[in-house]
Amino acid sequence: DDDLSDDSQISNVAEDYVFGFDIDGVLIRGGHVIPEAKEALRLLNGENEEGIKVPYIFLTNGGGKTEQERCLDLTKQLDVAVSPEQFICGHTPMSEMATQYETVLVVGGEGEKCRHVAENYGFKDVITPGDLIKWKPSVCPFRKLTDEEYTNSRTRDFTNMNIEAIFVFADSRDWASDAQIILELLMSKEGRMSTVSETFDEGPPIFFAHNDVVWSTAYDLTRYGMGALRIMIEALYKESTGKSIDVTSYGKPSKATFDYATRVLQQWRKDLFSDPAPPQTVYFVGDTPESDIRGSNEYDKHSESDWFSILVETGVYEPGTEPRYKPKKTVANVLEAVKFGMERER
Ligand code: G3P
Ligand code: MG
Repeated sequence: DDDLSDDSQISNVAEDYVFGFDIDGVLIRGGHVIPEAKEALRLLNGENEEGIKVPYIFLTNGGGKTEQERCLDLTKQLDVAVSPEQFICGHTPMSEMATQYETVLVVGGEGEKCRHVAENYGFKDVITPGDLIKWKPSVCPFRKLTDEEYTNSRTRDFTNMNIEAIFVFADSRDWASDAQIILELLMSKEGRMSTVSETFDEGPPIFFAHNDVVWSTAYDLTRYGMGALRIMIEALYKESTGKSIDVTSYGKPSKATFDYATRVLQQWRKDLFSDPAPPQTVYFVGDTPESDIRGSNEYDKHSESDWFSILVETGVYEPGTEPRYKPKKTVANVLEAVKFGMERER
């Protein structure tokens, strides 16, 4: 039974420390579980000498599905129950903006999934690039919607509609058409299609779920991710307007995402120990120095908790090289990270 709120088990739950896990490159790589991951989670779930359970959360930049759906996937992949209460992905904090903007463009991910994520968050009027291409295929001359995409895209007239904000929820599956649409809106008069601003200071704001330039997949080298699209958008905006565009990126290493994680941890401690203070130590295990280690180290300076960064060698970080952001500890894999943290707490 993994229900940590069960009273009879409170005495067996570590009170002072928790683990935070990055997912890609730490627990999963290219859709496959990293071999040591299951044992690492079993150790935390009480299969250790003291029979102690150590709570943990997942903090991933990846996204593109509802938190519920992703947790079901993780439960199957990792053989442990993963609930949305312990899961934060790149776009999770964007839910807090659902009442701020009425009509929004949501970019990225498979099919209609990100539209559903946004609607689940409470966004009222969610438009996808497919809706815009269905309205006028000439918006993206080289992109032809598949029959399925055409059916799923909504029939709307964008002639007199303003798109108030752009949210890149997950990796774009078609950079050319997504970039074309994003740039048109950024340079438009107040987010209206087929217009060009004279001043380039009235386009909608743009938010990215994270800023990972590269990430770890099934391939032996890293692959470009959402941060690379962000660089491309910035470069083309500059080329076209001579101006710089302001973008906001969530996910690690942003403070907003670690703040969100802290609120989750406080709620958990409040429910379990009636203590709303965050835990003393958060062992944060990641594979990407630029997001995981940087984020954890920088947040450590603001936080009541000690954020203890641990770098693993199963993902983006190339063993033997000097990481751009220095972890407090480097280990081979996630199992070693868990053993190290538990030993340090003994
Ligand atoms: O697209 C996801 C990737 O950039 C990183 O995911 O789990 O390593 O934060 P994760
Ligand atoms: Mg990672």
